[in-house]
Amino acid sequence: MKKFILSTVSVILTVSLFICCAPVSLADDSALPDPAAPFRIHVTVNGDAKTEKGFCWYTADETDSLVEIEGVDAANIAYEDVFEWEGNYCHKAKATGLEPGREYTYTVGSKDVRSPEGRFVTDDGDDSINFIAVADVQASSAENFEKGADTVKAALAAMPDAEFIINAGDFTNDSTNEEWDLYAKSFDPINLSNTLVPVAGNHDGLGVWDWFDNMFSLDTSESVQTRNGVNYSFDYGNAHIAVLNTNDLLSISLAQLKWLKNDMNSTDKDWKIVTMHKTPYTLGKDGKWPDALYLQKSLTKAADECGVDLILSGHDHQYLRTKPLKGNKLSDDGTTYVLLGTAGSKRYEVRKFLAGSFMKTEFINTLIIQKNGYGNYWNGSDFNDTKPENIGGCFNTINIKGGELTFNSYILSDEMTDENGERLVTNTDTFTLTKETGKNKATFSGDNTTSELEYALGVIPSLGALAAYAFGIWLPKFLFIVPRILESVIVDDTF
Ligand SMILES: [Fe+2]
Repeated sequence: MKKFILSTVSVILTVSLFICCAPVSLADDSALPDPAAPFRIHVTVNGDAKTEKGFCWYTADETDSLVEIEGVDAANIAYEDVFEWEGNYCHKAKATGLEPGREYTYTVGSKDVRSPEGRFVTDDGDDSINFIAVADVQASSAENFEKGADTVKAALAAMPDAEFIINAGDFTNDSTNEEWDLYAKSFDPINLSNTLVPVAGNHDGLGVWDWFDNMFSLDTSESVQTRNGVNYSFDYGNAHIAVLNTNDLLSISLAQLKWLKNDMNSTDKDWKIVTMHKTPYTLGKDGKWPDALYLQKSLTKAADECGVDLILSGHDHQYLRTKPLKGNKLSDDGTTYVLLGTAGSKRYEVRKFLAGSFMKTEFINTLIIQKNGYGNYWNGSDFNDTKPENIGGCFNTINIKGGELTFNSYILSDEMTDENGERLVTNTDTFTLTKETGKNKATFSGDNTTSELEYALGVIPSLGALAAYAFGIWLPKFLFIVPRILESVIVDDTF
């Protein structure tokens, strides 16, 4: 009898276990993503911002490519061949013939599997623009990608009518499939409905050329060739914006400087803006290396020559705005340089040993450190004025209206909340640039492409110029600050 009861109980248990587990197992299977489902979806400025857009997305399985834009003829969409990249399949497309100043809804994917519906707007061509700029999410964990995405969501809440988002590079830390997938999980919902202007960071392709190029559909038809990133430019409203790759030949090659000058001299737009990952002016940990100083000596000269108004960069995970500079001197009609702060969680302290040598402190208008325990604010004399609301992710909004450009920088506090219990957003810096419009004239009209051969031939003089700077200018300066670097390592544990 005991045996009978035991076996009956065991049958009942087995059956209930099967009944309980079967739906779980089915639910697990159904939770697996469809291998034909599109992910890492990016809509980008690609060519004429009034009438064209680029699309790039991935699928785990090889599928056909299909972009559907409401009200747009299928004939207006051109596809590149699908290709395998690091175990997934990359799809790229470009839409042309769009109407200026219009909002569109769209989906990407294949005939069988579609993405959720996204939206984008085209440039209306007038002299009013709103856009967002962030940098250095540089995450490797799901938690930190989510924190970076929170910062961008806060930016979109602060500027809901932003027409595009500049991401000044370092999307991920190690540029692996796993990291780009985590990035996609947090950022796809944002990217689906916002046009991106991507800038290549030094972490976006570490050791694997073409990672960055294979994430976005960009117009590089008239561009200088580089390996680990992309250079391109476009008009938006009354601004001309050039995107530089600073991962090639240390930070910038002679070919790129020539390209930038020709590019900026080919526009008569009122505002000239450059965005790139590495920064010439910084008090962060990367300011001590030759690439930053080389940008100070080379890029700034090019910016002076073609009247660039604003340079937006990343890389050094702090916010620093210079006063207008020309010829590496204070000048009212010079260029304003902004190191955009980090939208992510990796934040750098002030490296005091750079002050006065690598970074002249009289150039600094505003410096904001987002690091735990610091929250420093540069007020002209003090590095250590702690402001806890400065500890969080940084985002920036830019509004151009005719001859006025208004820039605002914000911090989304990690922990502090406002009266409604929402995470505190603090407007940490604001400035306005003004100019007389209609003054710029296009002085270059030739072909600005650089062939592979021209690029290859330019490598040696570029390296020569770099070596001359590195050994003639950087090394003596670096050796001079070595005692202060050592002191910083011993006393503050920072390098
Ligand atoms: Fe970087």
